[in-house]
Amino acid sequence: MPCDVFPPRLLLLLFLSAVFGASRGCLPDPASAYRFTGTVCRLTYPAAVVLNEKTTKVIEAAFQHARYPSMKGEKSVLIGKVLYGLDNLEIHNLSIGRSEFELHPGKGIGMEISNVSASFSGTIQYGYTSWLGDVSQSVDFEIESQTDLGINPKLYCGKGQVAADTSDCYLNFHKLSLHLHGNKEPNWLKKLFTDFVTFTVKMVIKGQICKEINKVANILADFIQETAEHVLTDGNIRMDIGVTAAPVITANYIESYHKGLTKYNNTVAVIDDSVFHPSQLTENRMLYFWVSDQVFGPMIKAAHQDGRFQLNMSGAELTELFKTNLTSAMPEFIRKCLETASPELRVWSVHPPFINTSSDWGTSVFATASGQLHCGSEDTPTLTFVTDVVVDVTASYADKKLFLRGKPSDISVTEAMLPSQNHRLIDETQTEFIREAVEKIGIPKVLSVLEVVITRLLNRQGVDLFDIVNPVVTPRDGYVVIEMDFGFPHHLLVDFLRKTLQ
Ligand SMILES: *[C@@H]1O[C@H](CO)[C@@H](O)[C@H](O)[C@H]1NC(C)=O
Ligand SMILES: *[C@@H]1O[C@H](CO)[C@@H](O)[C@H](O)[C@H]1NC(C)=O
Ligand SMILES: *[C@@H]1O[C@H](CO)[C@@H](O)[C@H](O)[C@H]1NC(C)=O
Ligand SMILES: *[C@@H]1O[C@H](CO)[C@@H](O)[C@H](O)[C@H]1NC(C)=O
Ligand SMILES: *[C@@H]1O[C@H](CO)[C@@H](O)[C@H](O)[C@H]1NC(C)=O
Ligand SMILES: *[C@@H]1O[C@H](CO)[C@@H](O)[C@H](O)[C@H]1NC(C)=O
Repeated sequence: MPCDVFPPRLLLLLFLSAVFGASRGCLPDPASAYRFTGTVCRLTYPAAVVLNEKTTKVIEAAFQHARYPSMKGEKSVLIGKVLYGLDNLEIHNLSIGRSEFELHPGKGIGMEISNVSASFSGTIQYGYTSWLGDVSQSVDFEIESQTDLGINPKLYCGKGQVAADTSDCYLNFHKLSLHLHGNKEPNWLKKLFTDFVTFTVKMVIKGQICKEINKVANILADFIQETAEHVLTDGNIRMDIGVTAAPVITANYIESYHKGLTKYNNTVAVIDDSVFHPSQLTENRMLYFWVSDQVFGPMIKAAHQDGRFQLNMSGAELTELFKTNLTSAMPEFIRKCLETASPELRVWSVHPPFINTSSDWGTSVFATASGQLHCGSEDTPTLTFVTDVVVDVTASYADKKLFLRGKPSDISVTEAMLPSQNHRLIDETQTEFIREAVEKIGIPKVLSVLEVVITRLLNRQGVDLFDIVNPVVTPRDGYVVIEMDFGFPHHLLVDFLRKTLQ
């Protein structure tokens, strides 16, 4: 589900941008945006620390590919005029000593990256005209540098997504020394180049690195944004996770507010009376998601309309299911049916299931399902029935799998007949068997199928690649809170860099 630049922050930023991505309208203050907010992501300081640690790798990798534009200039000297150009400027062996960041409440993120050492190489072309005649030369050079870098990104609600303004970016050079290779020029020329190259390289490095930071941040932000949207997209069912307000930064967390609107078949869900309030989340875990029933409801409705809620079971699988120990006696026509060569039970939801989450019950699912039992090859089902169920479902996640536990709270069979026997209604004890079978066989079976399907959907988008630590899903009145700690998986980063930066 859904939730920075130079160093620390690349990842942080990008993560934020992701989470903050894609808005069409942003309301000026979060408080008035809360009621349009279907889902919220809160990333706390400890999470930012983890992201910050990983950022070094991204920057080091990103700058292996940095190339700098050529430059030209001229300078009058005693003996005439020197023309020069810098070409093939490249960065090597970038390493980062230390990086730190702070959250500035209401303002932005402050990042300090110290002891960035790197060497630059390139070629100086130069020529001079003098009474000795025209000379044209080129010499390769190398520069060793040591710098501190500071960036103070501001997050704002820009066109279509939360944008990071990284223009507050500065470099302090501790060291910048030039080596010319095979230089046979007089000392005065070497001195001239040193001054010139030092000055120019400082300008270039500052300009380019600050620009590069922005670029890498945007690539990462897009990557995360797309990943988040893909996770929430399946077939024709899509999710608008655009932001409803600019993110809020406090001393201990960054929080973003999203629409969470299901889009299906040209219709878009509407949320305008959300119950979100920041006090509903704590600050002691790394990452929180707040998700309204108003997000799940339309998602479930779309899945129903898309024909996702149907299940066919047949043959041995069905026979096996009916071996479950029930207190009611199995009606004769069902026992006979299961003995035929190809019994089949088809079940589907009749109306979009309705959900209501509360602190006391978890998420209560209200559903109406229809079933048909086919015995043998005839088209006419042996049994048809309709059942209303209310199940309190709680979710958990462990070992990279989603688990759903269901506690049936109200199961009734509203209709049951035997079409092949003149649509005869079945008697009370037979109805009771069906009710019990729905409760003890049907509901666990449906939940176990959903567990597998949803886990597969999540994993298809790489959710299983994340190291999610001790996730907890807590039901509250009208919403759920999902909280977790995480480790940022190195291989995900490596994969991203391989795909994006090569
Ligand atoms: C980069 O570092 C390696 C190993 O320390 C060294 O051999 C190489 O010469 C360095 N390259 C540059 C361009 O400084
Ligand atoms: C930067 O590196 C130098 C030498 O490698 C070291 O003496 C200094 O303590 C470092 N500074 C920081 C802030 O890491
Ligand atoms: C999609 O919308 C069209 C037009 O509103 C409607 O005719 C069609 O039945 C809908 N399809 C589904 C699967 O809901
Ligand atoms: C269940 O079987 C019916 C009849 O064969 C078929 O129309 C339907 O697509 C099947 N549903 C699933 C989910 O396989
Ligand atoms: C089935 O349930 C009955 C009654 O509750 C019990 O006596 C019997 O041992 C159970 N059988 C199995 C296989 O669980
Ligand atoms: C949802 O559950 C709560 C708590 O059980 C209850 O007060 C509320 O009326 C329910 N809402 C709906 C729409 O059923």
